[in-house]
Amino acid sequence: MPSDSLDTLHDLFIHELRDIYDAEKQLLKALPKMSAAAQSPELKEAFDNHLRETEEQVSRLEQVFSDLSEKPTGKSCKAMQGLVAESNELLGEDANPSVMDAALIVAAQKVEHYEIAGYGSVCTFGRLLGLDDVTELLKQNMAEEEKTDKLLTSIAERLNAAAESGEQSSEAGGGEGGMGANRVRASGGRQSSGGGNRRGRSSSRAKSSNSRTKSSGTRGRSTSKRSRSTARSRR
Ligand SMILES: [Fe+2]
Repeated sequence: MPSDSLDTLHDLFIHELRDIYDAEKQLLKALPKMSAAAQSPELKEAFDNHLRETEEQVSRLEQVFSDLSEKPTGKSCKAMQGLVAESNELLGEDANPSVMDAALIVAAQKVEHYEIAGYGSVCTFGRLLGLDDVTELLKQNMAEEEKTDKLLTSIAERLNAAAESGEQSSEAGGGEGGMGANRVRASGGRQSSGGGNRRGRSSSRAKSSNSRTKSSGTRGRSTSKRSRSTARSRR
């Protein structure tokens, strides 16, 4: 791929920022489709809110590039192309609506985790390079990604139960928080453990989710390990 050379950490910083910028722009097009495909009002609202946040994030990134006297364009994020392509594939499936909601959360959390990895790195680079103002803007984006990821985990705890039982997820959407999360394992254990365990170590909600998982016949932390290796072996 033709690109500027990466001689310094600053070069890598700009390179990664362009990657993130392109990723966010791709997401601006993908989120409305995901929202349209979601059945749960709660999930739809999460996608719509994150679309607005993503617009803000793009503006902050443009501010970052302007502060650095650099162009934001010039890189296409292939990872996001892949994640969006997978999401689009899902949207074409003939799925039970509540299972589709669970699938959309999987797709969205993969995106959030990718973005969190990218923002984590550029925040570190920015700090090391002494670019405090720019780093502050990047931290705001990162905080929004993390908040969205947590929200998706908490929505999943409600909707996965509906996906498993084949109920309409709109019923579950307004239901009791965390109800039936012990049944997550059959439909979306991977999803919930992917996003849930990571965030959840400090939250009582996720702790209780883990213990529910345990009581349902799988084993807490080793479940997530197994899920990850299963996911890997499927690729
Ligand atoms: Fe984002």
